[in-house]
Amino acid sequence: MSGEALALRNLTVARGTREVVRGVTLDIPPGEVTTLLGPNGAGKSSLVLAVGGVLRPRAGQVLLGERDLTPLPPEKRRQAGVAVVPEGRRLLPDLTVAENLQVATYAMSRTQAASGVEYVLSLFPELKERWTVQGRYLSGGQQQMVVLAQAIASRPSILLVDELSLGLAPVVVKRLVPVLAGLAESGVGVLLIEQFAHVALGLARSAYILEGGSIRYHGTASELREKPDLLKSAYLLRTG
Ligand SMILES: Nc1ncnc2c1ncn2[C@@H]1O[C@H](COP(=O)(O)OP(=O)(O)O)[C@@H](O)[C@H]1O
Ligand SMILES: [Mg+2]
Repeated sequence: MSGEALALRNLTVARGTREVVRGVTLDIPPGEVTTLLGPNGAGKSSLVLAVGGVLRPRAGQVLLGERDLTPLPPEKRRQAGVAVVPEGRRLLPDLTVAENLQVATYAMSRTQAASGVEYVLSLFPELKERWTVQGRYLSGGQQQMVVLAQAIASRPSILLVDELSLGLAPVVVKRLVPVLAGLAESGVGVLLIEQFAHVALGLARSAYILEGGSIRYHGTASELREKPDLLKSAYLLRTG
């Protein structure tokens, strides 16, 4: 499954008339976790939505290897192997775990869907025990597992996760982190947006800080761990 990098080239995204992502160039290489950090309002979620095809960029490109995904609608991007978990994505509370996964795999062939579901259950065996339970009765952590499973079931080569641990207990975060690490080890290029910088920097090889819509820093995660002042200012400065 190891493959091509996803590359953002001079990406500019507007919300209304305001540019909230400005000329961002960023790489998500296969086989590793990349993290995107930054204060509230920096434009992280808008960037993710533009990669998913939900927001049309005003300028710039989203490339998968040589292929330009910029003109493609969301479902075509997913077919190309780019899966996005937007911030605050919820499962369907009235549907069971099984049905939530069916919804996520409906566009796939029967064999692909079956193997995708088998794969996510190997990552989240907890979900087997909750298989026929409605989403609303799951714990927050189990709900986040279903949401991740919905994205992973298509066996993406690139996975973007916006706010992995939002609202989750630390013990749940500890459970989810190795799954992302394992996906990266298996060849997936992962972009992680995470409020707990230490969690993200522990997983990532490369790190970016976005501020006011622009990349303020790019380097290795280990370098950034040695720069507490930069990290602190990035989180204290609000640019919303
Ligand atoms: N639906 C929206 N309509 C208009 N502006 C929005 C919307 N969502 C976010 N914004 C604005 O876009 C900017 C970037 O927000 P966002 O991408 O959510 O940043 P982050 O994820 O880094 O917190 C913020 O100033 C925010 O207020
Ligand atoms: Mg956000």
